[in-house]
Amino acid sequence: MDKPVVPNCRVVVEVPATVANLGAGFDVLGMALELRNTYDFRFVDSGVSIVISGEGAASLPHDETHLGYQACLHTLRKLGYELGGVELRQKNRVPLAGGLGNSATAVVAGVLAANAAAGYPLSPRELLAEATAIEGHPDNVAPALQGGLVICVNREDGEVQSLRLDVPSTLMTVVAVPDFCVDTAQARRVLPRYVSLSDAVYNVGRASLLVGAICSGEFEHLEESMQDRLHQPYRRHLIPGLYEVCSAARQAGAAGASLAGAGPTVVALVTEEIHKAEMIGQAMTQAFLEAGVSARYLVLAPTATGATVETAVVSV
Ligand code: HSE
Repeated sequence: MDKPVVPNCRVVVEVPATVANLGAGFDVLGMALELRNTYDFRFVDSGVSIVISGEGAASLPHDETHLGYQACLHTLRKLGYELGGVELRQKNRVPLAGGLGNSATAVVAGVLAANAAAGYPLSPRELLAEATAIEGHPDNVAPALQGGLVICVNREDGEVQSLRLDVPSTLMTVVAVPDFCVDTAQARRVLPRYVSLSDAVYNVGRASLLVGAICSGEFEHLEESMQDRLHQPYRRHLIPGLYEVCSAARQAGAAGASLAGAGPTVVALVTEEIHKAEMIGQAMTQAFLEAGVSARYLVLAPTATGATVETAVVSV
């Protein structure tokens, strides 16, 4: 018999946006950004009520298909708990277009809320494994949980191994967010099953360079380390203007640029020339416009702080 969740337990989870596939780090490098979704779970006796406000609220599911609710339900069941009902309020700030880890915020929120409601039985490593199993890949959920820049690998024994690094405060990002969505599942289907040894070596070298550049502060390596041959060439037809937007960002002063996650968002890294961030954003959105895509930009700082959890027992 499953245990019931403590009724009227309230768990508020704030989860940052993330950029997966950073530069050459396809499926392995993700960075957390200071823009957060808030998920306020209240565990009640029965019923499911979901209220969403903010960015793209009308496009998100307001019923039991909500990813945060599903992740919470799934995790509680795995922990041997029976979920009575939930009142969930979401304040959405992370754009839905794709590339900033919106779905990862919901997965992480659901897993963390379930863990809190169950009395915190899961270790950080187990939380990452659970969130990765639900999301399907670790490079958004790992930085969403841990903050900073996270290197993650799926081990052959099924474990996810991760290493979190601090990002220097002199590094900023500009993200150009188009007004259309790319479905991550579709963007995965266009990838080849096998790649050439030379393309693998190309990315291994640049992903290593990216980590080294961020750890050492030798930012002159960033431009080369943001190049990729493992996914962008196969996805570029899904994102009109992708290479032109990256190139416009570099010409306007960015240290490097790449597709964010599976896109369509493009991320540019800005270092010494942080005052150029606005100009870089304008150049990126202009390049998107020239490719027939309307887009907006946001200047976002990397964040060292991953998801946060606050709990309370509320009186009824
Ligand atoms: N690594 C994942 C992919 C990220 O490229 O499919 C999706 O956000």
